[in-house]
Amino acid sequence: MAGEIVRRPLIIGNWKMNKTIGEAVGFARALAAGLPPVTDRDAAIAPPFTALYALAPELRETAIALCAQDVHGEDRGAFTGEVSAPMLRDVGCRYGLAGHSERRRIFGETGDDVNRKVKALLRAGLTPVLCVGETLEERDAEQTYNIVRRQLKEGLNNLSADDIRRSIVAYEPVWAIGTGRTAAPDQAQDIHHFIRQFLGLMAGQEGAEEIRILYGGSVSPENAGALMAQEDIDGVLVGGASLDVDSFRKIILY
Ligand code: 13P
Repeated sequence: MAGEIVRRPLIIGNWKMNKTIGEAVGFARALAAGLPPVTDRDAAIAPPFTALYALAPELRETAIALCAQDVHGEDRGAFTGEVSAPMLRDVGCRYGLAGHSERRRIFGETGDDVNRKVKALLRAGLTPVLCVGETLEERDAEQTYNIVRRQLKEGLNNLSADDIRRSIVAYEPVWAIGTGRTAAPDQAQDIHHFIRQFLGLMAGQEGAEEIRILYGGSVSPENAGALMAQEDIDGVLVGGASLDVDSFRKIILY
C-alpha cells in the first residue's frame, strides 16, 4: 500500500548570493569534519555557481550532494550570462532549484520559464526542486491554495507521471523567507498535504506518495525537527541558517 513508502528526509542549504570560493571550501571542510556518517537522510548544498567546481571534490567523499540555485531552460546557445543543465550535471550537481520565489519576484520568472527549467533539469538527469509558495498579500486574500495549485500546474506542465515522480517540490511561503516568521508545523502540514493530493491528480496517488515535499522559510536548528516530524514534510530548504556550519550541521542531524 502507498502508506508503506518511506521518503528519505532531504535537507538542502541554499546559500543564495553568499560565500566566495575560499569561504565555501572552508565551510565544506568544517562541515565534513564534524559530521558523523548519515545514511538515513540526504543533504545538499546549493552554493553560488562560482563555487560549484571547487566544492565538488570537497564533498565527493561526504554524504552532501551539490544543488544548483538556478538553470536556463535551453541546453546551449546564445544566452549570455546563463548556465545550462548539462553544465550543472558536468560540474557535479545532483539537484537543481527551479522557480525560487526570489527568481520569480526579483527576476520576473514566469510559470512557463519555470516549466522549461524543470524540463531542462530532467533532460540532463538532475532532480528538479520546484519551489512554490504564496506572498503575504496572497495569503491575506485567502489565495494560498490557488497560488500553490497554479504554480504546481505551471511548473509541472506536460511532464510525464514518471518525471513528476522524479521531482521534488519545495513549499516556501514568501512571507516566511528571511523574516524569522516560520509557518507553524501544522499550518505547513496542511499545505503539504494539499500539495501531495494535487500531485496525486498529476502523477497518480502512488506516485505522489513517493515525491518529497520540502518546507522552506526561516528554518532553524530550533524548528527543523518539529517541521520534519509532520507527515507530509519530507525535508527542509534552508537559507540563512545554512550559512553557518554549526547551525546547518544541527539541522542535518535534527
Ligand atoms: P531563509 O531560511 O533565510 O528564510 O530562506 C529560505 C529560502 O529561501 C531557501 O530557499
